[in-house]
Amino acid sequence: MSHAHAEQYAPVFTTGSARRTELDELLTRYPTKMAALLPALWMVQHERGWVSDEAMAEVASVLDLTPAYVKGVVTFYTMYHQHPVGRHFIQICTTSPCNVCGAEAVVDAFLKHTGCFELGQTSPDGKYTVIEVECLGACGFATPIMINEDFIESVTPEKVPEILSGLA
Ligand code: FES
Repeated sequence: MSHAHAEQYAPVFTTGSARRTELDELLTRYPTKMAALLPALWMVQHERGWVSDEAMAEVASVLDLTPAYVKGVVTFYTMYHQHPVGRHFIQICTTSPCNVCGAEAVVDAFLKHTGCFELGQTSPDGKYTVIEVECLGACGFATPIMINEDFIESVTPEKVPEILSGLA
């Protein structure tokens, strides 16, 4: 099989890079290298948008861990993306209390207005990915959503176009 079209992995923590400097600085504040694993994975996700197997191997090597250990952590936390996602990652609570307040209609509105059409799919322009999540801890403000790190409460289907138009 030809790998001519396989994308080359570009390391995040190359010597002298800003991320390497940031990680080295972080390591002086943690008791062990392993303790810096979660922030190191965040850095990767901020740089690349997701955490690939190659990125996990890089983090493992930088922190003297096994790739299997790093993968175990990445797969445990839903905040780490194991596949490429849209620039705006939209999480919508559809747990029962929000569901009875109309969360499904909010999901439908996001799927329609983003062009994703299906949960977990990225829109053709690469801008959006929409997923359902469990309770976001704002049950009195249905429907709460998160777009990347921003939290928005009391979202209704009518508000969706305006929310999307406010995104860069
Ligand atoms: S059930 Fe939706 S935020 Fe708690």
